[in-house]
Amino acid sequence: MSTLRSILCGSGSYLPSRIVTNAEMATRVDTTDEWIVQRTGIRERRVAAEGETTSMIGLKAAQDALADAGMDASEIDLIIVATATPDHTFPATATQIQAALGITHGAAFDLQAVCSGFVFALATADKFIASGAAKAALVIGAETFSRILDWEDRTTCVLFGDGAGAVVLKAGAGQGTLADRGVLTTHIRSDGRFMNKLYVDGGPGSTRTVGLLRMEGKEVFRHAVVNLAETVRHTFSETGLTGADIDWFVPHQANRRIIDATADKLGIGHERVVVTVDRHGNTSAASIPLALAEAHKDGRIKRGQLVLIEAMGGGFTWGSALIRW
Ligand code: UT7
Repeated sequence: MSTLRSILCGSGSYLPSRIVTNAEMATRVDTTDEWIVQRTGIRERRVAAEGETTSMIGLKAAQDALADAGMDASEIDLIIVATATPDHTFPATATQIQAALGITHGAAFDLQAVCSGFVFALATADKFIASGAAKAALVIGAETFSRILDWEDRTTCVLFGDGAGAVVLKAGAGQGTLADRGVLTTHIRSDGRFMNKLYVDGGPGSTRTVGLLRMEGKEVFRHAVVNLAETVRHTFSETGLTGADIDWFVPHQANRRIIDATADKLGIGHERVVVTVDRHGNTSAASIPLALAEAHKDGRIKRGQLVLIEAMGGGFTWGSALIRW
């Protein structure tokens, strides 16, 4: 049966130039390189320059993805930016990127699912394309988490970084089978009862301030390992696939221990896992598209291969998607 698929035809990334090492973090808060590496796998992260905003870095990732796809911005009729750190409370960061790309048609909006934002945005764009409502979409994850960190709280400030990644999805005909190229399945979930485990303690509608990130790390860790395995098992039961069928596992990059534990639970060998958390830290909604772009650029992810992505974040939100590149 002929069906419309969202073909992933380009990926791109951008990282701010400033690198902050664990040694530098140890000059700011009571921590050590050894603790951070052992507990998280993070060695360094990027921090945006003063005046370098989420829309600016998201734009660079979008341009990189368009170049990779060999497409002109004028072909794009949908832009979704997954971000928890928009330039302004409104308008959407996506509309700023739209304007900077010179696009005056179609629609652009932001989507808020924190660290799961890219999976949610990909799932949303896929629905637009599959229904015929959009022909080509830019899905961007862009974050400047450095601006919502409490730089005196060692339990959180060592974990996050800034960056942006993007993919281009284009409508294409498929057969409705797992052999098709494009987004094959998506699963997204949320459970708002866990809001106080990972949140920002301010906002325009409550405190009239931006607020700072607060997290009960151990609790989030516990839920992450359970929820991430659950969402992927959903994908496996729906498709009949197993971990052995996955060419590349590209998880949200929060903690190396979560990544390894999830891969083990799913039967995916560590040599098939894309890891960037050591160099990027947790870049929230940007982490998966950054990792996709890196593994595509360096030749690991090849056309036709099966790529599994998953993420979990504040809300709680979590989800996964299966893509044939
Ligand atoms: O992307 C959204 C999802 N976010 C996540 O997935 C994050 C999930 N959570 C985690 O990754 C881990 O829970 C953390 C990395 C945040 C923490 O690791 P942990 O093994 O759960 O450590 P912990 O919170 O139990 O802390 C252990 C000890 C504590 O000291 P005491 O109470 O045992 O004396 C902390 O105060 O480590 C201490 N500690 C630190 N020590 C040095 C906490 N942060 C630091 C630090 N440097 N930066």
